[in-house]
Amino acid sequence: TGFSFGRVLDGSGEPGVLVRSGAHLPPAFRRPLPIPPVLRPTRSDTATDYYEITQRAADVEYLPGLRTPSWTYNGSFPGPTLITRSGRRAVVTHRNELPRPVVVHLHGGHMPADSDGYPGDTILPGDGSSVSHDMSVPGNPVVGSRDYVYPGKQRAATLWYHDHSMGFTGATVYRGLAGFHLVRDDEDDALPLPKGDRDIPLMITDRSFAADGQFAYPSLAPNLTVPGVTDDHLNGVLGDVVLVNGAPWPALPVDRQRYRFRILNASNCRRYGLRLDPPPPDGDPTFTQIGSDGGLLSRPLTHESIDVAPAERFDVVLDFARYAPGTRVRLVNTLATDRTGEVMCFDVSDRTPQDTTAIPDELSSVEYLDPRQAVRTREFLFQSQNGDPGWSINGEPYTPGTVLAHSRLGDLELWRFTSDVHHPVHVHLNHFQVTRRSNGGPGPYDAGWKDTVDLLPAQAMEVAIRFTDYPGRFVFHCHNLEHEDMGMMADFTTI
Ligand code: C2O
Ligand code: CU
Repeated sequence: TGFSFGRVLDGSGEPGVLVRSGAHLPPAFRRPLPIPPVLRPTRSDTATDYYEITQRAADVEYLPGLRTPSWTYNGSFPGPTLITRSGRRAVVTHRNELPRPVVVHLHGGHMPADSDGYPGDTILPGDGSSVSHDMSVPGNPVVGSRDYVYPGKQRAATLWYHDHSMGFTGATVYRGLAGFHLVRDDEDDALPLPKGDRDIPLMITDRSFAADGQFAYPSLAPNLTVPGVTDDHLNGVLGDVVLVNGAPWPALPVDRQRYRFRILNASNCRRYGLRLDPPPPDGDPTFTQIGSDGGLLSRPLTHESIDVAPAERFDVVLDFARYAPGTRVRLVNTLATDRTGEVMCFDVSDRTPQDTTAIPDELSSVEYLDPRQAVRTREFLFQSQNGDPGWSINGEPYTPGTVLAHSRLGDLELWRFTSDVHHPVHVHLNHFQVTRRSNGGPGPYDAGWKDTVDLLPAQAMEVAIRFTDYPGRFVFHCHNLEHEDMGMMADFTTI
């Protein structure tokens, strides 16, 4: 098959299966950082912008000279970036030309249940081919294409869209079904932050490639047995190549001024501990965080390093005026010692343009969800299933239609998550705020409105959440996509 497996421990002691590429891996920092194309609306009326995306197979060149058969949004990976406006409705028509059913979820989006990407709300292939809907899964399958309606009742934030096929999300996202969706608003636009080509989304993923360029994902190789690692892939699949916006270990030339980076970890299960090497020589903290999953923080926060679990977003400002001209600044991952310990680099030019940007002390007024006002507390245990392969929440492997929480719109609730190993926990429909962790208050990476939190091994944490606007059926789940596919998901409803 042209690739191989090994057991690994990531820097945090978490087991996963590392798939070792059979393909020749290029040296780092040769490819320029690609910027995903921005998708223009096909038409607009007074209140709505209309977009169209075709999901189709395409050969994509990730490694130099190799063509990798991929599943894509409009032929590229990452898919095109949607940029929508808070207060305006967006309708995105997805046409399915792939050979299997798909489901689209706008991660971090606030929208009615029928546009949320519930696992049963599939788009079946338009050519009437083979695969049909599993009738045991509740939902509303459609053939050929579906209109996803996003009302735009949310503030500016870095969202992303990706496939959500039940039991196959790990495989479909790995093959390329992921893209950015940025929401903009007047508040964010009015701040003196870096804009335009200095406001850059970074989608970080890890992948492995067989010698012929094909993706080396375990479930893509039928009947593959993994010597010595029986069922360990249930713990998550780790690649040995880091792609940023689809390019392996890319380089970005930067001038000596500020840049805004919207960092998204879109990897199936890999966590990253991001740092700059060398750190800024002035000794001040490296990263200024201005936003999280759900948009701007109330005030900026600084970090030496940032731990990013799958699906989390960190909106940061880096100031390259702090470096001498000609410095190569590497963005490294301290949680790995192999080549995934390197992510990308910034090559600092000798240009020092006048920088009119600034990071205000006050970014936004963020409503505080006071846990003492909560009307209900719910407990969710994320763990491996007793004895059986797979993963569960409160002992239940995912059964669509089995509801673990019935919530009332407008009620403030506390949700407590407890775990055995790392689980990035994601809740659909509304953002939440972390109120505490079992070792104290919210952690350094918990600030602001979140939709995904890094639940740490043998820890408990509590978030305050209030569902609003849309009654219906939604899901929450682990965003380690192999855990999700192996059952670590549950339904909740809102009325
Ligand atoms: Cu990003 Cu339910 O997922
Ligand atoms: Cu998990």
